Amino acid sequence: MPLHIIVGAQWGDEGKGRITDLLAAEAAVVARYSGGDNAGHTVTVDGPDGPQIFKLHLLPSGLINPHVVGVLGHGMVINPHSLLAEMDRLGALGIVVSPERVKISAAAHLITPGHMALDRADEAARAAANLEGKIGTTGRGIGPAYTDKTARRGLRAELLLDPERLGDRVAEHIRLVNQTLDRIYGLPGLDPVTIAADYTQYARRLAPYITETSLYLYRRLQANAAVLAEGAQGTLLDLDLGTYPFVTSSSPTSAGAFVGLGVGPQFAGRIIGVTKVFQTRVGEGPFPTEVFGPEADRLRGTGSNPWDEFGTTTGRPRRCGWLDLVLLRYAVRVNGLTELVLTKMDVLSGLDQVRLCAAYEAGGTRHDELPLGPTDLAPFRPVYETMPGWAEDVSAARSLADLPAAARHYVQRIEELTGVPVSLISVGPERKQIVRAE
Ligand code: IMP
Repeated sequence: MPLHIIVGAQWGDEGKGRITDLLAAEAAVVARYSGGDNAGHTVTVDGPDGPQIFKLHLLPSGLINPHVVGVLGHGMVINPHSLLAEMDRLGALGIVVSPERVKISAAAHLITPGHMALDRADEAARAAANLEGKIGTTGRGIGPAYTDKTARRGLRAELLLDPERLGDRVAEHIRLVNQTLDRIYGLPGLDPVTIAADYTQYARRLAPYITETSLYLYRRLQANAAVLAEGAQGTLLDLDLGTYPFVTSSSPTSAGAFVGLGVGPQFAGRIIGVTKVFQTRVGEGPFPTEVFGPEADRLRGTGSNPWDEFGTTTGRPRRCGWLDLVLLRYAVRVNGLTELVLTKMDVLSGLDQVRLCAAYEAGGTRHDELPLGPTDLAPFRPVYETMPGWAEDVSAARSLADLPAAARHYVQRIEELTGVPVSLISVGPERKQIVRAE
């Protein structure tokens, strides 16, 4: 069985969690390959007392399926405090999180309160310097943890197997962080002794989960098990391929799955790009199709529903706009997407008109592709295709034929303008609210 890869085709928050949950029904293993608890994946499952909502930040979304084994790959940066809290939360909801079901790569990196303090300090300094301004990070210490990794002084999860040594390494790391907080940012330091003691405790609980996950995945793939690689964030937040510098510090694109899981590309199967039928972004950075005022409020929702456009991790309202097909074509190309999954189709119901950004215009020239990639998008104006909307509620649609003609046309234009087939369309938050388009 091949490795199927699920990637976000936009700036994150595409609804990858619920799609992973859906596809995990046919998978044996679901493996997260990048990022940390900056991610927020929401899965809604029918329960005896109505829909049950699970919010995941570090554990793979596939774990909600009882038969699935979840892997946290070495491309991740893991805050052990958050992970244990999430395990406890899911455990209380009846999800088994034993070492038989959850495997953490020995080579994943650990996040500490030191990384979080540096993240916040750096954001404040960027905002004050007012050059490109702040990134708008989630404040979870992601950038500083990956910085330590590339500077080859990071704390790897294998240290959890030796609590005393981990404690020493954490104390040493916090002392170093304190020097930076003091000398660069003029901020007070953290207490290395208390933090080291906390990490020693975390190690005692997490040690049984540490695994050579690359070997585990290889053996499972060799034995014909279906493995799903679950991306976090999205293509446009990729450190190399995204809207730099307004990106995260990992590789959420499909190639990141091979690096972040230690699996060779010979196993590649479907490469599934998840995109909303409109565009959102949280944090700073360019957004050519962004809309404001009542138009944005309409796409965002009020926040009264869990699926409205407010961050799962930070609660921040998301910036909203029309679907940008220049950026989506880019995502198709750099990920090698074999199919698209569209989410939140139901949100567009009731609009008189819907729009797709087919190309950009700058200085009187039309651009179907970005001349320099998605770096400085400021000069570009969207060239829209505007088409009639549909009034019908689509939340009960299960096949393309159930959708109004205008909605089918909208999907068809996305396929035509990206050159990739649409396989699934979500029409509501629940597992069953899906249109199978094949
Ligand atoms: P960081 O990953 O916390 O360093 O944040 C860097 C940028 O990525 C910011 O613009 C964040 O808002 C954005 N970001 C990080 N994780 C997510 C996510 O899961 N969904 C959406 N945006 C994210």
